[in-house]
Amino acid sequence: MTLAELLAEAVERFARAGIDTPQVDAEFLLADTLGLTRSELQLELRTELPAEACGRARALVARRERREPLAYILGKWGFRRLTLKVDRRVLVPRPETEVVVERCLEHLRGVESPAVLDVGTGSGAIALAIADEHPGAQVTAIDVSEDALEVARENAAGTGLEVELARCDVRDGLTGRYDLVVSNPPYVSLEEIETLEPEVRDWEPRIATVGDEHTELIARSARDVLEPDGWLVLEIAAGRREAVVRLLRELRYERVQASPDLAGRDRVAEGRWGTSNRR
Ligand SMILES: C[S@@+](CC[C@H](N)C(=O)[O-])C[C@H]1O[C@@H](n2cnc3c(N)ncnc32)[C@H](O)[C@@H]1O
Repeated sequence: MTLAELLAEAVERFARAGIDTPQVDAEFLLADTLGLTRSELQLELRTELPAEACGRARALVARRERREPLAYILGKWGFRRLTLKVDRRVLVPRPETEVVVERCLEHLRGVESPAVLDVGTGSGAIALAIADEHPGAQVTAIDVSEDALEVARENAAGTGLEVELARCDVRDGLTGRYDLVVSNPPYVSLEEIETLEPEVRDWEPRIATVGDEHTELIARSARDVLEPDGWLVLEIAAGRREAVVRLLRELRYERVQASPDLAGRDRVAEGRWGTSNRR
């Protein structure tokens, strides 16, 4: 069987399984199995594949056909400048979260050694990207899930970036002093999760996706740990802009605003804990 035939078979199976991007996913998977880049794959399409390579590729195709996220099958995923290890223990880092990091870097610009807290770090994506792109930042990352912290630890070791990792439940409040608190908290309701794609509904950890109290809890507790004029940056669900902006204003954050992701939807909310607000 040629690589082109195997690729066509995978694309067909993915399309039938209802996957939105069958061609791209098939190319990623086959390239990865064969140790090629996606462009190298295009140059090898007429190559006859040994039965063993076909078998390996088909095993991965079968996993994706069951709607397992591509990132879990590949075991890694790109986030900003980093390639992070990901598996079923953590949420797959999303492009909209890259915008969250962008907003944090904007607030940290010019501050030599800011203290940063990432609440609900998962794979460590936000914390590690900030440590990578703002050298000098003292980043602490917390999560309630010991499984997630293990992945974050592996990513810290794998990237060589220093981040302090600790198990902490945000429902117990936050401690320490920080110039910036950032979080991509769970914000999907129990009803809504059942309507989402199988990749999210059936594969990603519920502890990472489902939650209706985390945004408010974090916004409230961040006030106890933010330095004067420190910033809170939160990822928010599409459609929650008004509610979260109102919440932050009620909690007396200043300069509250929301920013759009790459698709133009407001997915990041932020506010400054002003000097005049010290409690
Ligand atoms: C949406 S995921 C975000 C993961 C990562 N920061 C990212 O953006 O890819 C939310 C994370 O919050 C963690 N989490 C859920 N409930 C928590 C709690 N009560 N306290 C601390 N972390 C919590 C989950 O384990 C999960 O890793």
